[in-house]
Amino acid sequence: MEFLALINVNKDLVCPERIDLLKEVLRFHEYRYYVMSEPLVSDFEYDQLYQFLQRTEKENPELITSDSPTQRVGSSLNQNFITVQHLVPMLSLDNSYNAEDLTDFDRKARELSGLETIEYCIEPKFDGASISLIYENDMLVRATTRGDGVEGEDITTNIKQIRSIPLSALFSKYGIKQIEIRGEIIMSKQSFTRYNEQLVAQNLAPLANPRNAASGSLRMKDPKEVANRNLDAFLYHVSYVLLDDRRQTTDGQPLSTHSGSLQLLWDLGFRSPQKEKRVVQGIQPVIDYCLNFEAGRDNLPYEIDGMVVKVNDITLQEKLGMTSHHPRWAIAFKFKARQATTRLRAIEFQVGRTGAVTPVAKLDPVYLGGVTVSSISVHNEEYIKEKDLKIGDSVLIERAGDVIPQIVKSLPELRDGTEDEILFPKQCPVCKSELFKEETEAVWRCINIECEAQVVEKMIHFVSKDAMDIKSFGEANVRKFYEMGLLKDIPGIYELAYEQIGGLEGFGKKSLENLQSAIEASKQQPLHRLIYALGIRFVGETTAKTLANAVEHVFDFTKKPEEELLLLEDVGVKVAKSIHQFFMNEQNIEMLHKLQSLGIQLKNEKKETVASTALQGQTFLFTGTLNKLKRSEAEALAEQNGGQIVSGVSSKLNYLVVGEDAGSKLEKAKKINTIKIISEDEFLQLVSPE
Ligand code: IVH
Repeated sequence: MEFLALINVNKDLVCPERIDLLKEVLRFHEYRYYVMSEPLVSDFEYDQLYQFLQRTEKENPELITSDSPTQRVGSSLNQNFITVQHLVPMLSLDNSYNAEDLTDFDRKARELSGLETIEYCIEPKFDGASISLIYENDMLVRATTRGDGVEGEDITTNIKQIRSIPLSALFSKYGIKQIEIRGEIIMSKQSFTRYNEQLVAQNLAPLANPRNAASGSLRMKDPKEVANRNLDAFLYHVSYVLLDDRRQTTDGQPLSTHSGSLQLLWDLGFRSPQKEKRVVQGIQPVIDYCLNFEAGRDNLPYEIDGMVVKVNDITLQEKLGMTSHHPRWAIAFKFKARQATTRLRAIEFQVGRTGAVTPVAKLDPVYLGGVTVSSISVHNEEYIKEKDLKIGDSVLIERAGDVIPQIVKSLPELRDGTEDEILFPKQCPVCKSELFKEETEAVWRCINIECEAQVVEKMIHFVSKDAMDIKSFGEANVRKFYEMGLLKDIPGIYELAYEQIGGLEGFGKKSLENLQSAIEASKQQPLHRLIYALGIRFVGETTAKTLANAVEHVFDFTKKPEEELLLLEDVGVKVAKSIHQFFMNEQNIEMLHKLQSLGIQLKNEKKETVASTALQGQTFLFTGTLNKLKRSEAEALAEQNGGQIVSGVSSKLNYLVVGEDAGSKLEKAKKINTIKIISEDEFLQLVSPE
C-alpha cells in the first residue's frame, strides 16, 4: 500500500493536499469496513494510517478539519445534551399485523389518491433507537434523539462514535444545502454477544437485548463508552431538504421517490437499507416480501421487529399526508410473537411492596425475540393450575414485541414422570410469618408490615420517579444502604449518614452532593406525590391527586370516615377501606409524624398553584393524541384552574377532551348524555377565554 510508505518518511511531504488525501483514504476504508462490511485492508494497516494522521495533526494542528477521522473521539466534558427542536416532527408508524391489515392500508391509500395501483417501497423495521441527523454544507452538524417527537436531545458527540455515520458527505453535489435524515441506531447480534461477554467477564450484569444496548448508549456521559459498544446505524428516511440557490425544485432529482432517497444516501456513503429494500407495484407483492423476510429474520446479522411499507412516490406521500401520530403513506408490518420451548427448573416466591407473594418461574435461559429469558412471572396459584405447570416441565414461551415474555402452556406430552408439583408456601419466604389469602382474591399475602422484603420494596417505591422522584437514589441504592444497615425505613431516607456513604465505592463527592440535594428537594414535593409514595393499596397516581385535593393536611385523613371517602371521585368501597385502614394504623401515623419532623411537606399547598378557578368543580378526562399540549401538560393545566382529572368515563365525568385517534373512551362517552365532548382548542378556550 503506497500510503504506508509515507509514514515517518519525510516531513516535507506533510502538506494540506496530501493530508486531505490521507483523510479520504481513511474514510474510504471506514466505509468499506463499517457500511459495506467488505474491508480492503487489515486492521493493522488501517491503524498505521490512522496513527500517522493523528501524529501529523498533533504536530500541525492547522491541518485538523472537523470531518477528519480523528475527530470522532470526544470528551465527556463537552457533552451537554441540550434540548433542540426537530426541523420536522418525528412521527411514529401505524401498525399492521397481517395481510388483511395491509390490504386495508392499500385500499385507503388508493381511495385517497384515486390511483388504481400504488408503488411501494418495503424495507426492514430496525429494532433500535431512532435518531435524526442534520447535515449543513456537507458537514454533520447535529444528531438528536427522538425525544417527544417534537424536541429531542443533542447527542452529536456520541453519534460521532458510530463509524458508519459519515462526518461529512457530498450533498452539495445534488444541490442540497441542508438535509435532515432519520434512522435507527442498532447493535448487531454479534456486537451484542461480545459486549455482554465483556460485561460478564467484569462481573457486571449483561444487557437484556440489542435494542436496550443501543438506546441506552445514546445519552451516555462518556463517548468512549459509546465507541466501545460498536454500534451501527441504518438511515431510512429524508425528512427535510433545503436546496441551494442553483436548484429550486426536486423534479427529476433522486429525491422524487423514497427508493431514490435510499439510493442517494447509499451513494453518499451512508448505510441505508439499499440492499434490503424492494420496490413493487400493488399490495400483494408487499405481503409476499414481508412474509418472506419474516421467515428469514433469524439469519440476519441484526434484529428487526417487522417491515416498513412506504408509498414510494414522494409527491403522493405529501398528498396522503399524516395524522398527528403517523403518516398515512407508511405502515409498519409487525412480525408475529416469537416462541421457544425451554425447561421450567424451579419456582421462586417473591414478596412485593404490598406483601403479595408472586411465584416466578426460573427457566433454562433461552434467546427469544432479542432477549435472553430466564425467569417469567407466573402470577398466582390459580394461574399455575390453569397452565398445568410442574417443576421440570418443558414449557412453550412467547414474547410479542415489547411485551413481557409469557408462558403459553406446558407440554405435558414431554413429561417423563420426574416432574414435581409446585407447592405454594404457607409462610412468607422472607420473614416466615403466616400467609393469608382473601376469598375474593387470587393472591397470597404476607401481612407482617415489618417484613424485610416489604420494607425494602416500599422504600424503592417511595423514591421512584412517579412518587417522590428522588433522583439518583433508585432501587440499587435502597438495597445497598439497607443491606449495610444505613437505612431501615422511609423516614431513614431523610436521616442518612452521609459521612458513611461518602466512603463507599462509587460515591464520589459529586454523586454524594447530588444525592443529598435530590433528597432535600423531595421534601417540597406536592402532597399528591407523597400520598402516592406511601404505597397505600389501590391508590394510584390519579386517586392520590383526588385525595390530596380533598384535604388541607394529610392528617385530615385520620378524621375521615370511610363513608366520606366514598364521596370522592374514583373512590370505591375497596379503595376507601384501604385508605381508611392505612390512616387507622398507628405505625403509619408514627411514620408520618416522623416525616413531618424531618421537614417533609404534609400540607396541601395546592392553593398556591391554582391559576384560576375557571374549571372549579368540573371533572376532565383526556383521550387520543393532543396537538398543542402533552397529555401531562393538559392535565396540569386543568388542575391548575381548579379542575379535577378522573381516570375513566362515567356519569361523574363532565368533560371528555378528545384528541386525534380517540378510541373506546369516546365511544363510551357518547352514550352518556351529560358528558360534554370537546376538542383540545375548546378546552384551551375554557381555561383562558379570549
Ligand atoms: S420510517 C415518518 N422506516 O420505527 C416515517 N421507521 O414504529 C417515520 N423504524 O419511530 C419512520 N425502521 O424509529 C421508518 N425502515 C424504517 C424503520 C423505522 C425502524 C422505527 C422508527 C420509528 C418507529 C415507528
